[in-house]
Amino acid sequence: MTGASSGIGRTVVRHLVHDGWLVAATARRVDRLADLVTELDQDGSISAATIASVGSGVVTGCSAGSVLAVPMDVTSPEEVSNAFDVCAQHWGRAPDLVVSNAGVSTPGLIADITAADVASDILTNLLGPALVAQRALSAWQNGGCGRLDLIFVSSDAAPHPRPFQAAYSAAKQGTEQLAAVLAMEYDHP
Ligand SMILES: NC(=O)c1ccc[n+]([C@@H]2O[C@H](COP(=O)([O-])OP(=O)(O)OC[C@H]3O[C@@H](n4cnc5c(N)ncnc54)[C@H](OP(=O)(O)O)[C@@H]3O)[C@@H](O)[C@H]2O)c1
Repeated sequence: MTGASSGIGRTVVRHLVHDGWLVAATARRVDRLADLVTELDQDGSISAATIASVGSGVVTGCSAGSVLAVPMDVTSPEEVSNAFDVCAQHWGRAPDLVVSNAGVSTPGLIADITAADVASDILTNLLGPALVAQRALSAWQNGGCGRLDLIFVSSDAAPHPRPFQAAYSAAKQGTEQLAAVLAMEYDHP
């Protein structure tokens, strides 16, 4: 799960863990991920939270293996690759469900927003899901067991673009096209 440190991603992680999934909760804010692990630990969803060092990042996980908090910036190919490596080391297998949920929106008139604002929305909402999908497919092709599902969290701003969200609307529309092309390339029914 990308974007697991707040909002929709954090809530979905709670539900998945409660339902017995082994979940890698990823985001940039490791302290928020650690809070989530502690919360799940305290409500009895997991047992014995532990903290370990993997590479240059801090990984917070649990001995029961139902949730693993992994620092990952979706705009960094190195961090995305490292996160998948950490999951493989921890669970010894490729993921069978990957949710690209991390997103940002930098509101403003197109005349007023900066190049950095546009880049932030495009990199996080479009490049990020593309990098995560590439790495997930690579893991699946090199050791996945059966089916791989990729879920992309889009927005109503994709089919219905609105003022003050030009870069966000464009990026989310791009993500929907990315998902459509992946479905064609991998022969989704
Ligand atoms: N809330 C809505 O009404 C709504 C409506 C339509 C679509 N959506 C979409 O739903 C998704 C979740 O939205 P939300 O409302 O839950 O937002 P949110 O509370 O702001 O959470 C965004 C998440 O994305 C992560 N994130 C941002 N940039 C990142 C990066 N470069 N690398 C890794 N993680 C990054 C953040 O974690 P860190 O900052 O810790 O990295 C955070 O966990 C987004 O894709 C959003 O576009 C939301």
